[in-house]
Amino acid sequence: MYKFGLNKKNLCRIRMHILNFSPAHAFYTTPASPHKHRGPHKQRGMASPAGRSSTSLSKIPEFLVGPIGQPMPAVGLGTASHPFVEEEVRAAVLTALELGYRHIDTAALYASERVVGKAMAEAVQRGIVVSREELFVTSKVWCTQCHPELMLPSLKESLQNLQMEYVDLYLIHWPMAVKPSKPHFPMKREDIVPMDLSGVWKAMEECHRLGLAKMIGVSNFTTKKLQELLAIAKIPPAINQVELNPTWQQKKLIDFCKGKSIQVAAYSPLGGQRIPKMNPVRQSDILEEIGKARGKSVAQISLRWIYEQGASMVVKSLKRERLKENIEIFDWELSDEDRLKIAQIPQRKLITVQNLLCPEGISSVDISDVDVLEM
Ligand SMILES: NC(=O)c1ccc[n+]([C@@H]2O[C@H](COP(=O)([O-])OP(=O)(O)OC[C@H]3O[C@@H](n4cnc5c(N)ncnc54)[C@H](OP(=O)(O)O)[C@@H]3O)[C@@H](O)[C@H]2O)c1
Repeated sequence: MYKFGLNKKNLCRIRMHILNFSPAHAFYTTPASPHKHRGPHKQRGMASPAGRSSTSLSKIPEFLVGPIGQPMPAVGLGTASHPFVEEEVRAAVLTALELGYRHIDTAALYASERVVGKAMAEAVQRGIVVSREELFVTSKVWCTQCHPELMLPSLKESLQNLQMEYVDLYLIHWPMAVKPSKPHFPMKREDIVPMDLSGVWKAMEECHRLGLAKMIGVSNFTTKKLQELLAIAKIPPAINQVELNPTWQQKKLIDFCKGKSIQVAAYSPLGGQRIPKMNPVRQSDILEEIGKARGKSVAQISLRWIYEQGASMVVKSLKRERLKENIEIFDWELSDEDRLKIAQIPQRKLITVQNLLCPEGISSVDISDVDVLEM
């Protein structure tokens, strides 16, 4: 019997790639033996970069996701940064890679693809990582390109920005289509058009077949939207990236995805980039109390809770100390009492499609099912 969301099935799908795990985690499968490169079907590389000792790197476990079980780091760096300052994001990507992060999350919308690509190339050049194959890159297609004929060109543009031949994961950013234009938000309500989910997903499958996206998935999909997609997909989505943290726990969605072998990935795992005083996660008295008792930060309690749900996550920080703190969550666990307290936290979704739209205007397309609150 396992006490939390990492059930037997999940445990078979997760493995550590570096030794030294605490006895509390003895249930993980045998760590893979070290090697330097990773191809799509090989085990993930875990060797130290040239000139570095492996002890200087943190140990980020991986989930095996998608139809053939490709490794995906449990924690990645988010690069949506408000305000966006290119040099800050470049420095954060390099610092994260130095600390042992291998997954970087970007999107056509974030304007960060170019700098992510540059920083990754620099990391390879400087020997921080051995090669591109050691990295896991996620990008996303924005609503303005969510049209069958624009999907492949949009991915090609992302690859051009990244200066890469493929992304490891390509996601539909939101289940919504907006009249073609450069990715932007807020979007005008009158520009929303009906989304051709079947045509869009076929184009995603084509992106995968062409080898330009090792895995394909979705973001901000509810269980209803996933059901619609699963009914037409030849290749099921490997991942659903959604808002997930102790103040928006998504139990229904997590259970549904577990049943369909879709990996849930958390975004805004620390409650997003709102000013700290307005942040329900970082201002949570319950998380603070648990953190104090365990000698952990509020951020670590939130991230550890997400990991214990069997979800991977992307978390954004521009600060070295926080980047480090955010991956020091794998050699301890929450108690049953902690989990019970977290289960009582009032629930509130922070990011809705309404936030992405201009306040004025009307839409002839019913988008109410995009914002359904599932508990
Ligand atoms: N698919 C989607 O629709 C979607 C939507 C939103 C976000 N995302 C992705 O998810 C990523 C993460 O989500 P997010 O950026 O919304 O928010 P988040 O990761 O929940 O929180 C980021 C904020 O927390 C602060 N922070 C980070 N570590 C901290 C720590 N240890 N202690 C205290 N504060 C800390 C950061 O400030 P500093 O930088 O100053 O440290 C930043 O302001 C994004 O960057 C993006 O890649 C995806």
